Amino acid sequence: MSHNDHNSKATKEPRPPKACGWMAEFENEHDLLHAAEKVRDAGYTKTDAFTPFPVHGIDHALGIKPTILPFIVLCAGLTGLCTALLMQWWMNGVDYKYIISGKPFGITPASIPVSFELTILFSAFTSVLGMLALNGLPKFSNPVFTNPKFDRATDDRFFLYVDSTDKYYNRESVRELLSSVHPSSLDEVLEDASPSELPRGILLGSLLLVLAGLIPAAIVLNMRASFSDLPRWHVFFDMDFQPKKKPQQTTTIFKDGRSMRPQVPGTVSRGQLTNEDPFYLGYDPMKVSSVDGPRQIYVSATDTVLETLQPPAGGDGGTALNLPWLEKLPVEANEANIKLGKTKYETYCSACHGYAGFGDGLVAKRAASLAQDTWTTPTSLHADRVQKQPVGQIFHTISKGQGKMASYASSLTPQERWSIVLYVRALQRSRNAKIEDVPVEQRSGLTDAQAPKTDGQ
Ligand code: HEC
Repeated sequence: MSHNDHNSKATKEPRPPKACGWMAEFENEHDLLHAAEKVRDAGYTKTDAFTPFPVHGIDHALGIKPTILPFIVLCAGLTGLCTALLMQWWMNGVDYKYIISGKPFGITPASIPVSFELTILFSAFTSVLGMLALNGLPKFSNPVFTNPKFDRATDDRFFLYVDSTDKYYNRESVRELLSSVHPSSLDEVLEDASPSELPRGILLGSLLLVLAGLIPAAIVLNMRASFSDLPRWHVFFDMDFQPKKKPQQTTTIFKDGRSMRPQVPGTVSRGQLTNEDPFYLGYDPMKVSSVDGPRQIYVSATDTVLETLQPPAGGDGGTALNLPWLEKLPVEANEANIKLGKTKYETYCSACHGYAGFGDGLVAKRAASLAQDTWTTPTSLHADRVQKQPVGQIFHTISKGQGKMASYASSLTPQERWSIVLYVRALQRSRNAKIEDVPVEQRSGLTDAQAPKTDGQ
């Protein structure tokens, strides 16, 4: 190749391109290996080989020493480990002592994951960056690229290159040495004379890209700092905007305008017959029509009749009190149910009705002390009327609410509600225990103070 191939810019003073070394071309890897060994034995170290595929033994033939990268990575890993330990010791043991389950401060077994992570992190980054640095990468141009023959390095030719920066380099002796191994061609590699600055277009383009990349951040920052009445931006239209019908809205889909279809006559409900099962109602819906007489709603505590309803035509009368109530608990009166009932009563009822059921819970007391006259006193569960209520009615009160008291059906399962009824019954009985309730053999041991009273209070 001729030296005139690389024209310097017309404006600059023409200067012969600098020679960077010699490059020999071979037809197969055996010749290359042989040549590389010879060059190595002659003492050259600034050499390189380019082959279309990995050639076994080329490292050795070129005299490449094992890399010091593993050692550098080891040091980086240890640095990561020490950083992690020091950081955790400082954070947890010195700067911000935080008691976590009474564990010791500073370095504990819990520090292992972070230490492990930082060791790996430091090592990984050092491996990648160290590899690049030791290889002199990234390198966008190499003088060997100036020779068009070199293109075959990725195809079917093998190249050996001796760099002019080698301390034994001598233009003539290297040429002689390389000629002696019979390369298919031998060329002097010339420096790349093409301009080294980035083209203006690329520079400007990257600048614009960087600026454009700042726009989303700027928008986010602006939004965080300002207020707006508008709904937030939806990049993806979650479920905030979806076609739907709200209750009582009409639709054009159906002729009758109803958006929700009524049940087809004769539909058999399966697995959820809760509105027919006394267990879920507290009364037997099959016997509703057989109950005569008015169903009454009371004003709590005072036992005055507030309203008298006529028996509804059938089904759940809601506030109707004269229903065919269950007289017997549908749950077993065992320890597990009593315990469940106690827990649930104390959670959901005691705030108003008090732990013992006298209607003197904390909420009731507070309301009374505020004396705002808007508060209905919770009924004492020991009131005569409640005592006489069948279990089904108390269950119904919990399920549907009663007067000013809300329904607890959404918080308590029917099983839990029945357990509460059981517990309420136990509370009532505890205030009305009779001497007959005590086992015969224990009666004589009772002192007067312990003896259950017969009048209930
Ligand atoms: C927020 C306070 C409050 C809570 C909690 C509460 N109640 Fe009541 N309860 C009342 C009030 C007030 C009344 C009187 C309602 C009325 O007559 O207007 C009442 C009435 C009752 C009655 C009598 C109903 C009747 O037939 O007159 C029973 C039984 C009862 N509650 C049981 C319970 C049970 C069991 C719980 C727990 C699941 C409970 N309550 C939770 C306030 C409460």
